[in-house]
Amino acid sequence: MTRSYLMSPPEHFVVEYAINPWMDTTAPVDTELAVKQWEGLRETLARLGHEVHVLTPEIGLPDMVYAANGAFSVDGVVYGAKFKYPQRTAEAAAHRRFYDTLGWRYVAASETNEGEGDFAYLPAALGGLVLAGHGFRTEVSAHAEAQETLGRPVVSLRLVDPRFYHLDVALAPLDDANVAYYPEAFSESSRQVLAQLFPDAVLATEEDALAFGLNLVSDGRNVVLSSEATALAARLRTAGYVPVPVELTELKKGGGSVKCCVAELRA
Ligand code: ARG
Repeated sequence: MTRSYLMSPPEHFVVEYAINPWMDTTAPVDTELAVKQWEGLRETLARLGHEVHVLTPEIGLPDMVYAANGAFSVDGVVYGAKFKYPQRTAEAAAHRRFYDTLGWRYVAASETNEGEGDFAYLPAALGGLVLAGHGFRTEVSAHAEAQETLGRPVVSLRLVDPRFYHLDVALAPLDDANVAYYPEAFSESSRQVLAQLFPDAVLATEEDALAFGLNLVSDGRNVVLSSEATALAARLRTAGYVPVPVELTELKKGGGSVKCCVAELRA
């Protein structure tokens, strides 16, 4: 199935502040290489038949490349982001302007949430299920706000490992009803919830998760993921998916990979 995505090139990408454990302001970043790798991801998604919209990056917003954080849309309704850290606050407005050009209904958030960084959607699970992370960025109050905004059940999951500070670095939808995840990134009770909801999930190891393997984009068949996550790729192949590795080493320096760079537009 053809999907629609939104990406923003890392033309202004640098690591000049640190808001997650992956960011080291003293490590050099090759912005040109970041753009090249990002271009490779964009081309990969296009080659798989998907539509990719591009959001113009803004000077002074180096994390804007992580487009997944800008909003969360379901059935053409957009629940806007409200960033935790002031360094990223202005990104929400840039995303809002994009959705306005599409003519989609945009609902601004009152509660702190980082869009698809902490929200995932599974259209065929229980008729349409939202999974939501909290613990580091998104407030649990935003989960209730998302449910009221989108009219879909939202299941709250608590993240407990600061290395996996967003849901999308610990869990990923593989198709419309199943997920892959790293259990240890979640609280004991949230692990129990995930085991109950997804008995057939693909479980990732710490090594897979540290390679940002779970920060993947799947169209239900092709799974685009970091080329460093080789063990997870093998497990996905065994489970019947087609892994499509891409290199995104520069963007790892900001604490993200494939999924962070891609917001899905769900009409
Ligand atoms: N430097 C960014 C931050 O810490 C990385 C965001 C990664 N995005 C994601 N969807 N996990 O906010």
